[in-house]
Amino acid sequence: MPHNERVTALTQGEAVDVLVAAALRHAGSATADGADDLVARARRWGPDLEAGVRAVFEPAVADVLVARLAEIVVGGWVDRPQALRDRDRDRLLTPDWFQRPDAQGYVAYADRFAGTLEGVATHIDYLRELGTTYLHLMPLLRPRAGANDGGYAVADYRDVRSDLGTMADLEALASALHDSGIALTIDLVLNHVAREHPWAQAARRGEAHYRDYFLLFPDRTVPDEFERTLPEVFPDFAPGNFTWDDDVDGWVWTTFNDYQWDLNWANPDVVCEFADLTLFLANRGVDCLRLDAIAFLWKRMGTDSQNQPEVHGLTRALRAVARIAAPSLVFKAEAIVGPADVVKYLGVGDYAGHVSDLAYHNSLMVQIWSALATRDARLLVRALEKFPPKPTTTAWATYLRCHDDIGWAIDDTDAWQVGWNGPAHRAFLSEWYVGRAPGSFARGEEFQVNEATGDSRISGSAASLVGIEQALQVGDVPMLHRAVARLHCAYAMVYGFGGIPLLYMGDELALLNDATYLDEPEHAEDNRWMHRPRMPWDVAARRHDSSTLEGLVFAMVRHLGDVRRSLPSLHASVESVPVETTNPALVAVLRRHAAGDLVQLYNVSEDWQRCDPRVLGSLRDRELVEHLSGDVPRTEDWQLVLPPYAAVWLAAR
Ligand code: GLC
Repeated sequence: MPHNERVTALTQGEAVDVLVAAALRHAGSATADGADDLVARARRWGPDLEAGVRAVFEPAVADVLVARLAEIVVGGWVDRPQALRDRDRDRLLTPDWFQRPDAQGYVAYADRFAGTLEGVATHIDYLRELGTTYLHLMPLLRPRAGANDGGYAVADYRDVRSDLGTMADLEALASALHDSGIALTIDLVLNHVAREHPWAQAARRGEAHYRDYFLLFPDRTVPDEFERTLPEVFPDFAPGNFTWDDDVDGWVWTTFNDYQWDLNWANPDVVCEFADLTLFLANRGVDCLRLDAIAFLWKRMGTDSQNQPEVHGLTRALRAVARIAAPSLVFKAEAIVGPADVVKYLGVGDYAGHVSDLAYHNSLMVQIWSALATRDARLLVRALEKFPPKPTTTAWATYLRCHDDIGWAIDDTDAWQVGWNGPAHRAFLSEWYVGRAPGSFARGEEFQVNEATGDSRISGSAASLVGIEQALQVGDVPMLHRAVARLHCAYAMVYGFGGIPLLYMGDELALLNDATYLDEPEHAEDNRWMHRPRMPWDVAARRHDSSTLEGLVFAMVRHLGDVRRSLPSLHASVESVPVETTNPALVAVLRRHAAGDLVQLYNVSEDWQRCDPRVLGSLRDRELVEHLSGDVPRTEDWQLVLPPYAAVWLAAR
């Protein structure tokens, strides 16, 4: 059936009836307070739930699945605490809360930040000081014992890591955060579970029902067929995508580590499990689910088994489940994929605004590092120019670095268009950021060198990668100032882009690489731990002392947030569009907004640069105000003059 017809049929389809009927059954019961809201939302989003399901499953399977999801939705709503229903109502009045210029993120491991979940609550003041309105606590659901990929191998989604606390502690923390205006994000690992998860244990015991939750093969025939087109995520410590398991007596699909078993999302039971888990976590007070490794959910022979269209159908159905039962919940897609693919996670075409609300802007991150190394922003500008617009109700999560490595996701054609060779440029960036290239300011390390392709990725803290570590080592004060200015320039791009800027714990204090991971057996072989430090609260205690490095950087980051919050033009509903500058060391970005245009200029080099004032567009010949430093760039010979690593946010007075 052509797509359009299918959608028309669906809007009058049975999903709404099934859902509404399920909702109405509860409307007469004692728990029915607010059931009319549930019915209204079922009418509004039921068609979406059905469209998502039917995009993936054949009609007979879809019919049953829709009815099962309807029961899960109503069950989730019945369990929803009143305080969270109130939160739903408030969020529905401000559905753009995560797009607003005051939305600002902080990302940390609960244990490394504050020991336990209770500990996190004692540092809410610190988060507020930075302007945080959104806290992502890294994996905290109960992982397998031993190696667990930083918690991304979950053994129980309904329990919290015992050293961090209990589910009740998580609920208490969520509520304390809410009282302080902070939304809570946690990870929902969709692609795989730990080999020790009860589903995997049952599969290993031979239970057919649970064997179907996974992708198991009796011999190498099918795995070998798939391997012909599959990349390797961890070629170094987990080569290949399949692992032999004696208990299942077969090969298990394991995209990541051998103990992370990929789930079979073509099985409707798996869809129901995750619909239920989504609402279970929402009902604990979680505001945003980071959909881990979402790009990998659907496997297709002859492809790289990433970004398959079914992924978006599945997300649409899960998103509708949440919208009906727990509408204050939002989704953030962790899809570290190319520009054309990544916007699909925010929704393209019929899916626009119907899948995830947030997605990581990996390209911006990679391009900032590329520009800082080369002092040449042309590739960054080229990549941004090509970026398709996102739906106006969604937002990017922007970041300078995260808990993972930096992979050089640079398009060969883009590189060629600015006169560079893609593979050579990627190799250069790796050399630069491990500090081997002549003149490098960086102190990172290589992660996952792929012998076959020559690719390698980079680990290292932001401060070490921008040159602060090197400057401190050699004791060179001007060099240190340059490195701090580089960090400021980079973070200004992250804060100025529009969307939620994510501050990774430690960047606000310029924390350097942490070598102690080498002493921890379950971390030692994964050098991503060098940029996942423990919070040194003694260092943080100096954050208000402007004569210290941490004081300087803390004030700098805080100021970026303060200014950002004051600018309506940074609302994520409008795009950041790059403007041609004719000077390769400069980035110019225009944000057109009803509240007034904002033009941003960045100098990615340590030299003074000149810029054609035509980049100012509609702001030219207006009286200007510069929001970050208060200094409007001066003009010399009809050219704007920009100091080293300038970050300038200009608007009309
Ligand atoms: C995501 C996480 C990464 C993890 C992987 C597998 O990419 O960010 O840390 O290794 O998923 O769960």
